[in-house]
Amino acid sequence: MEHNILVVGGNGLVGKTIIRILKTRNSHINIFIGGRKRGTGNHLKIDVTNPGTFQIIREKKINLIILSVNDKEDHILRYAIENKIDYLDITKPTPDLVKAYAFAKSRQMSSRIVFSSGWMGGIVNGLVKTLSDNTKDIQEVKLFVYYSVKDLAGESSAHFMAENVARPFIRYENDRQIPIKHFLDSEYFDFSFGIGKREAYNFDVPDLYILNQIEGIPDVSVKMTYNSKFITWLLGVFQKARIFNILSLKERKMIFGSSGNGDQSVFEIIIKTKKGNEKLSLQSTKGQAELTAFSAVLHTEELLKGYHENNIYFSHQLHQPLSLLEKLRSYESINIK
Ligand SMILES: NC(=O)c1ccc[n+]([C@@H]2O[C@H](COP(=O)([O-])OP(=O)(O)OC[C@H]3O[C@@H](n4cnc5c(N)ncnc54)[C@H](OP(=O)(O)O)[C@@H]3O)[C@@H](O)[C@H]2O)c1
Repeated sequence: MEHNILVVGGNGLVGKTIIRILKTRNSHINIFIGGRKRGTGNHLKIDVTNPGTFQIIREKKINLIILSVNDKEDHILRYAIENKIDYLDITKPTPDLVKAYAFAKSRQMSSRIVFSSGWMGGIVNGLVKTLSDNTKDIQEVKLFVYYSVKDLAGESSAHFMAENVARPFIRYENDRQIPIKHFLDSEYFDFSFGIGKREAYNFDVPDLYILNQIEGIPDVSVKMTYNSKFITWLLGVFQKARIFNILSLKERKMIFGSSGNGDQSVFEIIIKTKKGNEKLSLQSTKGQAELTAFSAVLHTEELLKGYHENNIYFSHQLHQPLSLLEKLRSYESINIK
């Protein structure tokens, strides 16, 4: 079968990286790049806010769309479902994911719809499953994220924090929904890979929802720290003083919109079962964009195998957990302990 893959947002930081890795590992597939600029050849002019520009997707016989730019109104998701095209989405913050998932569930599925918006392209939930033989035995998952402001970050990625920093979100305790806010409730955590002990603060990623509502794990929390202890502390002060509530979106984008020249990205998963605690630590020496893109490529490769029936998936459900772990381990810029 011919594989025509379209990466919408393919001119962006993560989209470009997806295309590079995908091409290197799968020379037989045709890759198209979707963006707002007028395109020639494999560059297609597609604006996610304007479904009138989507006609070209059918003309080019695209069979998988990878979404790598925010699409608040879910125009691309609708188009994929209506036109029976496989769809992989790395973009949705929790509230948007919940909305898109509810919409997809209300439709008949004639293609594979994959939500891959969890932290680092949706690999955390697959890795959680490598820490226990049975997910039902897991009482608690804690995810700790180390985010360096020196790392490369695309404009669209920065929008998430700017849009959501002042909004409450949910963590789960004994299956109860506890409303919390970013940058509060600090907790000391000793990060691996030479980072050391730091205060980590509340952070909303879709893994909270996925691990509780889809995987049934009763206690789930996520905390993050920036590379600069001062910045992390200052954001906590801003939140306590409700400064984010009075800043405009433009001002919040200025705070969160910076991009450096590249740095490591690290996350650590701790699970608690009756047998005790287990921990997995992952470092991407090339940063968050490379890791997210590689995850998206691994999910794409699972879809290309054709084993999965038409249905809605969260990306970790495409993989055998230990096989996912091995693939991540074998990537040169990823270290796992
Ligand atoms: N799941 C995760 O762990 C994870 C991690 C990182 C990033 N992300 C998500 O990945 C997405 C991309 O992030 P990024 O850092 O690559 O951002 P980015 O560099 O800003 O890339 C987005 C690209 O989309 C294109 N674009 C913008 N508006 C568009 C529109 N209306 N229609 C079509 N294309 C449009 C832009 O190119 P043109 O100018 O050519 O249109 C831009 O280059 C974001 O949604 C981000 O939240 C997810």
